[in-house]
Amino acid sequence: MEVLNYPETTFEKLPVVIFEHAAQGAIRIAQEIAGIIRHKQQKGKKAVLGLATGSSPIGVYQELIRLHQQESLSFANVVTFNLDEYYPMQPDELQSYVYFMHEQLFDHIDILPENIHIPDGTLAIEQVKEYCQAYEQQIKDCGGLDLQLLGIGRTGHIGFNEPGSASTSVTRLVKLDPLTITDAAKDFIKEEFVPLRALTMGVGTIMKARRIILMAWGESKARILQQTVEGRISDEVPASFLQSHPNVNVVVDQWAALELTRIKTPWLVGMCSWDDNLIRRAVIWLSLKMQKPILKLTDEDYKDGSLSDLLVEAGNAYNLNIKVFNAIQHTITGWPGGKPNSNDAQRPSGQCPRVSARSFSARTPTTT
Ligand code: GLP
Repeated sequence: MEVLNYPETTFEKLPVVIFEHAAQGAIRIAQEIAGIIRHKQQKGKKAVLGLATGSSPIGVYQELIRLHQQESLSFANVVTFNLDEYYPMQPDELQSYVYFMHEQLFDHIDILPENIHIPDGTLAIEQVKEYCQAYEQQIKDCGGLDLQLLGIGRTGHIGFNEPGSASTSVTRLVKLDPLTITDAAKDFIKEEFVPLRALTMGVGTIMKARRIILMAWGESKARILQQTVEGRISDEVPASFLQSHPNVNVVVDQWAALELTRIKTPWLVGMCSWDDNLIRRAVIWLSLKMQKPILKLTDEDYKDGSLSDLLVEAGNAYNLNIKVFNAIQHTITGWPGGKPNSNDAQRPSGQCPRVSARSFSARTPTTT
């Protein structure tokens, strides 16, 4: 089920687990959450969960509902704190995170209403500061978060902690990044209807959780995920602060993992099992890196480009270059859907050079 779950530590600074499909990752996360809830139940304690919204956690919530309905998982001992809420926002509006959480999870499980906490988007502006301090205090009073579930925005935000957020930031009112507003527009019909501000737990609030799981599904998250996992810690990508948390897992599907070095250029990480597809990717990558046409790549280029392993397999650069060049050449066609009844094994070069009438006559020796 997991595609690759060994820790990759050459480039990755966060432990990443890659699943083929998002649904499989969601089930794994839900199982861990259920484990925490049951463990706390046995001890007669409350499980304190930090929850997220957006499309990413929906599969996790569906599996938690299934566990409740079919495997008698009770949420009676669960206390939840949601990460964030748009501001201003009424709880009964379709776009509110209150509405989302009830629809996606709370209405289908036996959680006690008094144990649910979601930042209040209805407050007057002068109440916000005190409210945010109280939200932090409530989390502390419950003994802190046992687990914080996170999605990631394309800006690298966690909760609504946009680029520029401090690692020590706490629950507060923030301004949304223009990219976040664009991404949120799908839920608000038009971009101009998206609130410009939000209430969010801070990076510091999130980092205090004893366990953190960050989820990312789909190719649109691949680039920001790579920066989060492999980049340096920086407030330009707030999710990168997670690198200094002692107990975090990043759970992704194969599409969100596409930009990770171990997937994109695995030859930089270790030994590869080379097939034609991987060889082609590596040679094209080397040609771009060396800024040389494929047919001009030398053995030295392969060695300098961390591809000596491939050289051992294929013998020499000359053979590799020709193999890949020919394979690419065969992708050029005037019949993208295939030409019926044709055999193009030799295309595009024939066995003999094609000679035009003009050049033929120019080269034909005269007999006089
Ligand atoms: C919103 C939420 C974030 C969430 C992000 C990603 O901005 N405030 O907590 O992580 O969306 O959304 P999605 O999971 O839909 O990609």
